[in-house]
Amino acid sequence: MSIRRLTLLGPPGAGKGTQAKMIAAQNGLSHLSTGDILRDEVVRTTRLGLTAKGYMDRGDLVPDPLIIEMIKGRIAGPADGFILDGFPRTVTQAEALAEITALDLAINIDLSRETVIDRLSSRRVCRGCGRIYNLLFGPPTDAGRCDACNDELFQRDDDKRAVIENRYDVYTKMTAPLIDFYRQRGLLHEVDGSGSTEAVLAEITTALLS
Ligand code: AP5
Repeated sequence: MSIRRLTLLGPPGAGKGTQAKMIAAQNGLSHLSTGDILRDEVVRTTRLGLTAKGYMDRGDLVPDPLIIEMIKGRIAGPADGFILDGFPRTVTQAEALAEITALDLAINIDLSRETVIDRLSSRRVCRGCGRIYNLLFGPPTDAGRCDACNDELFQRDDDKRAVIENRYDVYTKMTAPLIDFYRQRGLLHEVDGSGSTEAVLAEITTALLS
């Protein structure tokens, strides 16, 4: 596969994390999720984590300079390629990324506001391995436990309805303009996120091979 530096765009709950994990595993790419990195900083109560927590709990974006500094070294690292999940999220971040490295492709996973709210309200995540479940669309075999590592499943603090709605509004205002940003640069590929996980993966895989 010649495409080895890509980003997944899309509203909260579009399936970026679900798809990025599978694409990374199938193609030997590093999965770089700014949301996961920030949540780890919060758990470790680092200075960045303490600053980021307030923004994340409200569903607002963490300020650009903090995010750009956080991701810089990580992008430079993986020689075999990477898939970005949740970055860039503003035009400022996209411009900073273009100075660090050139992307091969930006895939936008499109999903309606109603489906975003349904999916995020019923999302659960494994505390041990980070596997993502959905109580409505992809539940675990044993309620509350991870199929892969048997650790406990939890609901993210920002998956409460009011916070989900703010995250979607912030996405529309701050991140949706990146669709045109990458379209104008000939790097955009659009995918319908409303199908099954397998159907979305098949669409993305086709885009990566074309
Ligand atoms: P982040 O963790 O990146 O959250 P997000 O972008 O809002 O995206 P999500 O992780 O909520 O959703 P997803 O698209 O990955 O969907 P998932 O695969 O889980 O960011 C969190 C916060 O960190 C931000 O609000 C911000 O404060 C901060 N932050 C992060 N990056 C930043 C940046 N660059 N700049 C500034 N601040 C930043 O799927 C969702 C659910 O749907 C799951 O339950 C899943 O099982 C289910 N599902 C997935 N696909 C399907 C399908 N095809 N059919 C049915 N169900 C499905």
